[in-house]
Amino acid sequence: MPPPLSLPVLLTPFQAALSEWGDRVRRDLPWRHTRDPWSVLVSELMLQQTQVARVMPRYVGFLARFPTPAACALAPVGEVVRAWAGLGYNRRAVHLHMAAAVVVDRFEGALPEGLDQLRSLPGVGPYTARAVSAFAFEHDVGVVDTNAARVLARAVAGRRLAPVEAQALADSVVPPGRGWAWNQAMLDLGATVCTRRRPRCGQCPLAAPPVGATVGGCVWAGGGHTGPDPADGSAGVSGPQSAFAGSDRQGRGRLVDALRAGPVTVAALPVACGWPQEPLRAQRVAAGLVADGLAVVADDGSLRLP
Ligand code: ADE
Repeated sequence: MPPPLSLPVLLTPFQAALSEWGDRVRRDLPWRHTRDPWSVLVSELMLQQTQVARVMPRYVGFLARFPTPAACALAPVGEVVRAWAGLGYNRRAVHLHMAAAVVVDRFEGALPEGLDQLRSLPGVGPYTARAVSAFAFEHDVGVVDTNAARVLARAVAGRRLAPVEAQALADSVVPPGRGWAWNQAMLDLGATVCTRRRPRCGQCPLAAPPVGATVGGCVWAGGGHTGPDPADGSAGVSGPQSAFAGSDRQGRGRLVDALRAGPVTVAALPVACGWPQEPLRAQRVAAGLVADGLAVVADDGSLRLP
């Protein structure tokens, strides 16, 4: 049999401009040095709600402690929560532990490759499944996080997108065979140039059509940024975060931090949450942690990590 023909991929001007930029400026991030599906899953769960700068110092240490799904599944969930320190949104640690158990029980310890199978794992939604598909298995699927969603709405569509449209558009613009690099470039562009407030259009490879082309530039910039920002309210684009200071989330985070150090008695709950005058609020938050699998009640009534 002759070897299969490998034809050059013809890129659209938009694809060419973003690919060239992405290859040139790609951020050197630790999770971009691996294609190990477990490592990629860990990075994506960490990055889902937490900024790159906060994930960087935690990622390598976490994987050293839990290098495989089996290592994670074998550990008590409390240990995974302990290793999640500094990342926030601790429920993700519980989900990761549950996902590891399913991978061991149903997939012989190796992450599955198909989107549907990936989505069957606890805590793995459409975004994370596609991210693992693209960044571990190098499949040509579009990864739509808040950054990519903003680029799609502004540069490609020039208007607010519905969820199905955003995903279909993301899938349709991936250059064949280049899913890994393409998606990293989309994320980089959204995170560093096409930012939510004050986009740096002067540095954007898409601000104008590529040299020699009449199409391929950003739709929003091409129209002179007239009209509202197409990213506002577009599918997958998150709005401003609600205030953290004074929120239940802050008290929850403080209580989990206290539990990492050791059990917390009922009497100590309000102070552990940072609300010495609000015992009922502290108890409500503690009950939430138990319901979410982040804490258990010991025989003496104190709270501890599971
Ligand atoms: N956010 C989510 N996935 C990411 C990745 N692979 N690189 C940078 N930021 C990300």
